[in-house]
Amino acid sequence: MSLAVTLTRAQQGVSAPQVVVEVHLSGGLPGTSIVGLPEAAVREARDRVRVAIQATQFEYPARRVTVNLAPADLPKEGGRYDLAIALGILAAGHQVPRHKLDTCEFIGELALTGALRPVPGVLPALLRARAIGRSAVVPRGNAAEAALVEDLDVRVADSLAEICAWLCGRGELAAPAAAPAAGGLDAVPDLAEVRGQLQARRALEIAAVGGHHLLLSGPPGTGKTMLAERLPGILPPLPAMDALETLAVHSVAGLAIDPARWRQRPFRAPHHTASAVALVGGGSHPRPGEISLAHHGVLFLDELPEFDRHVLEVLREPLESGRIAIARAARSVEFPAQFQLVAAMNPCPCGYAGDPGGRCRCTPDQIARYRARLSGPLLDRIDLQVQVPRVALDDLLAARGLRDEDSATVRTRVLAARRHADARAGRPNAEVGVRELERDCALGASERTLLAQAVEKLGLSARAYHRILRVARSIADLDGGAACVGRVHLAEALQFRGLAA
Ligand SMILES: Nc1ncnc2c1ncn2[C@@H]1O[C@H](COP(=O)(O)OP(=O)(O)OP(=O)(O)O)[C@@H](O)[C@H]1O
Ligand SMILES: [Mg+2]
Repeated sequence: MSLAVTLTRAQQGVSAPQVVVEVHLSGGLPGTSIVGLPEAAVREARDRVRVAIQATQFEYPARRVTVNLAPADLPKEGGRYDLAIALGILAAGHQVPRHKLDTCEFIGELALTGALRPVPGVLPALLRARAIGRSAVVPRGNAAEAALVEDLDVRVADSLAEICAWLCGRGELAAPAAAPAAGGLDAVPDLAEVRGQLQARRALEIAAVGGHHLLLSGPPGTGKTMLAERLPGILPPLPAMDALETLAVHSVAGLAIDPARWRQRPFRAPHHTASAVALVGGGSHPRPGEISLAHHGVLFLDELPEFDRHVLEVLREPLESGRIAIARAARSVEFPAQFQLVAAMNPCPCGYAGDPGGRCRCTPDQIARYRARLSGPLLDRIDLQVQVPRVALDDLLAARGLRDEDSATVRTRVLAARRHADARAGRPNAEVGVRELERDCALGASERTLLAQAVEKLGLSARAYHRILRVARSIADLDGGAACVGRVHLAEALQFRGLAA
């Protein structure tokens, strides 16, 4: 019987379910049909595959060709199935041997010349293939991703012809070049360039220790954007497993992957005109949004009040859960979104409210309306809120001061503090659950009183209460990893609440 089976993978969110391609050749009028919920681009594979097979000097069967993509209820889109379909047709017609086809997965889009084109979402597919002990062949254009997956027999190819030669035992396929060791931080600007702003620097450091969300508020040109852009430079490097999770999202989104920087935390800074879909993801074939591209890294929202209010509100849920589920009529997919939010804003429409020069011309009503663009629930989720006032002229003109530390110095402290958190809870303080948090803070009676008074006076929510505890825990970690969170730590954490709003 002329039936052949090849293996490939679909893409659904960041998961990569297996797809089995069954090709059947039978008598009857020549023609090809593809069944198994193919969408437009997959149906068109029929023409691409036929021309590519002919261009590769093989024969396209002059018979009835039925291609079934199983499971049938999984929607399939894109050109990623072309290669597996082509090989299935060639194997069914006995033009290539089948012995490698049951342990090797094939992914790639075919050009009419028979050349292989890269496709999105190769990394998650390779991780799955590795998990079940298969080997894989992918387009050379996806080599950067393939090189990151260790302990996997993966090869890259330029064309269908090369792969057929390899299957026939007439040639070898190259392995992707090995990924360079963890990339440096060369491209990240340094904190040494920022003058003054001690309080904002301190907040940035605490945010880096615990992975806390941060809001910087102040008049124009005081260094808010500068400070935010320097956060990646003081964050600990990404563990390999986390880096792969982040890159899987980038791979699905079709972003180029730079192997030299793969351990760097992502820093995403979408413009304030971004739509809700661009920010959180969506579309009829759900794509990851900026919050997922920033997974395990930083999402920087500059000019926060300029974002559409509706767009900001959709952030509320992922800000707490660390993931986003996108439900569509046909299916629902989930993307990871564990990001650290850093936001910057001016205090009023003209930007100068609170500036000592008295330059602000906004009416109280205008200021109130401007601030109302940020909802209470959103601000409630931002652990550290800090004012960034105008830099004193002396600070600006002076040569680099002693207190203008560079990123390397700050980073050393951050790493030391993170080690305390890792030893205690195995994760950053911002991600610690409420029960562990109470245990890890070990508050004494006087600390409890202080906190109770603050909650009462500032009218804080239960969420804010726990977030303050987490920040205080990070401050204590910076303070040599003190076993108990003390009054000084709490007092400093409280200082960072409710300043900006
Ligand atoms: N604290 C500072 N130390 C050194 N240079 C600074 C500082 N603040 C501002 N500058 C200078 O001003 C420029 C603009 O700074 P930045 O973009 O960070 O301002 P901003 O606070 O984000 O302003 P805006 O509210 O207008 O966005 C910087 O590129 C730098 O040249
Ligand atoms: Mg700015």
